[in-house]
Amino acid sequence: MNSRLAFFVLSLIPGFAALKSDEPVVRLPNNQNSKDVIALGRELFRDKTLSNPVGQACISCHDPSTGFTFPDSTVNKTSGIAPGAMKGRYGNRKPPSIAYAPFMKKGIPYYDNNAVAWVGGLFWDGRAKNAFDQVRFPFYNPNEMNNQIHNVGRPEVVAKKLRSGHLARLFKKAYGSNVFTLSPDKLFDKVAEAIVAYEASPEVSPFTSKYDAYLEGKADLTPDELLGLRLTTGTLRGRPGGFPFRKSAHCMDCHGESTDLHKGPDLWTNSCYANLGVPRNDSSPYFNMTDRLGNPDGYNVDGKDYIDLGMAGFLYNYYGWSVRKPHGPDPLRLIGTFRAPTLRNVDKRPYPEFVKSYMHNGYFKSLKDVVHFYNARNLTDVRGELIDYTKPDPYGSLKGKPLFPPPEYLDANTLINPTGTSALRGAPSSNSNKVLDPDAMQIGNLRLTEREENAIVAFLKCLSDGYFRR
Ligand code: HEC
Ligand code: HEC
Repeated sequence: MNSRLAFFVLSLIPGFAALKSDEPVVRLPNNQNSKDVIALGRELFRDKTLSNPVGQACISCHDPSTGFTFPDSTVNKTSGIAPGAMKGRYGNRKPPSIAYAPFMKKGIPYYDNNAVAWVGGLFWDGRAKNAFDQVRFPFYNPNEMNNQIHNVGRPEVVAKKLRSGHLARLFKKAYGSNVFTLSPDKLFDKVAEAIVAYEASPEVSPFTSKYDAYLEGKADLTPDELLGLRLTTGTLRGRPGGFPFRKSAHCMDCHGESTDLHKGPDLWTNSCYANLGVPRNDSSPYFNMTDRLGNPDGYNVDGKDYIDLGMAGFLYNYYGWSVRKPHGPDPLRLIGTFRAPTLRNVDKRPYPEFVKSYMHNGYFKSLKDVVHFYNARNLTDVRGELIDYTKPDPYGSLKGKPLFPPPEYLDANTLINPTGTSALRGAPSSNSNKVLDPDAMQIGNLRLTEREENAIVAFLKCLSDGYFRR
């Protein structure tokens, strides 16, 4: 859909104009107590008494040693999906990094005419409008910390534990001795505020990667890392506005706000949404979460047939427009689109053999696999053969074996570059004068050599925090 049409459809949705709210993403306390608030947030993030049953905290799924993602190498390798506080329960998605979350583009996802894309929100599907709003989800989620009464998430459950818990003293220090006279709702707001303050603090979001050091003239990149940076950004120095490099892998189209770099450090995502055609993760335990009686609010209605609808699953429902089924109506072309996560700390791991999983469903197990997927999604093992996802039966007449399994949600209307021949055809960002430009390709058939793939991986390692101290 071209952007004008998208806007026409959007204007039919009540309340769309009110979407681009300017409410603050980070409500950092600006008094002398901010240190105490951050210290409280740090402990809340680690407090395993705040789940039901006890035993799970935010840090259980977002550990600093892995760049604030899931810290169990075996689980990452086998399923990629984190278990909840209740034994045997699992959610549908992989925990993303929470570092830098408070700095992400705020708002329920909206169509940005300048970016020519849907942007904004947190979670893989954008259902939290900012980091503050996000905090309630894991506390209440039946497949995560499960603080529910009669299958509804309730602040009372958390408030009660806080009043009598070991963090009560820190709470009073940060918010005054009367803090526990607040209603459970208001007290929960303080919990969220403190956690967000911690997430935004230099301990979690420090901007201390080798890349930051390089930009500040404090480090040199190796030849491979520099090649990777050049390919990732498509520029000679890895900065916007500079001389273009001979080749671009177009990562920054979605993973960087390049034109805004002068305004502050790059977040390595512009919070846009896309269907990359990531294969279904058959090892996800979520397919077996079909116990409706045992887990009324967290079960998987579709069982083995479950397909993650991504942002569509949330946004259409938000507007009261039910799209439960894949291949249902999709006028805004949202089904199967997910938010581009930050690339900061994608490689951060406690030891080299530690396995991390990538993408919304944890399908990929190494950065090399991810980059190879971008490079070769539309290829088969027969040289020169391309899979064309716009065909009714894309696999029907192939001579070779596809290099990757089919997309979890196969729809040429939402898939980026479905034909594997040009960047923007079929993308939400369709832009008529770029349609046939193969050098603007974003995924599918990037024609990167093995060395170039490895260089991109080498560069991604430069995005791990902790390279230097501020
Ligand atoms: C059981 C594992 C688990 C626990 C416990 C957990 N999370 Fe998460 N977290 C996830 C998963 C999975 C997602 C992605 C869910 C989605 O997108 O639908 C996520 C997403 C997030 C995001 C969004 C990041 C982004 O860039 O979109 C933030 C922020 C976050 N969690 C913070 C927290 C906080 C704060 C807590 C504790 C109150 C917490 N999480 C507890 C698994 C967990
Ligand atoms: C068209 C937009 C787009 C382009 C171009 C793009 N990405 Fe992504 N990227 C995304 C989206 C969207 C996701 C999440 C997709 C999903 O989970 O289904 C993602 C996910 C990732 C992840 C997984 C991160 C995690 O925490 O799981 C990595 C790594 C990544 N991209 C690296 C790259 C690299 C390297 C390039 C350039 C070769 C690139 N991306 C180009 C949109 C893009």
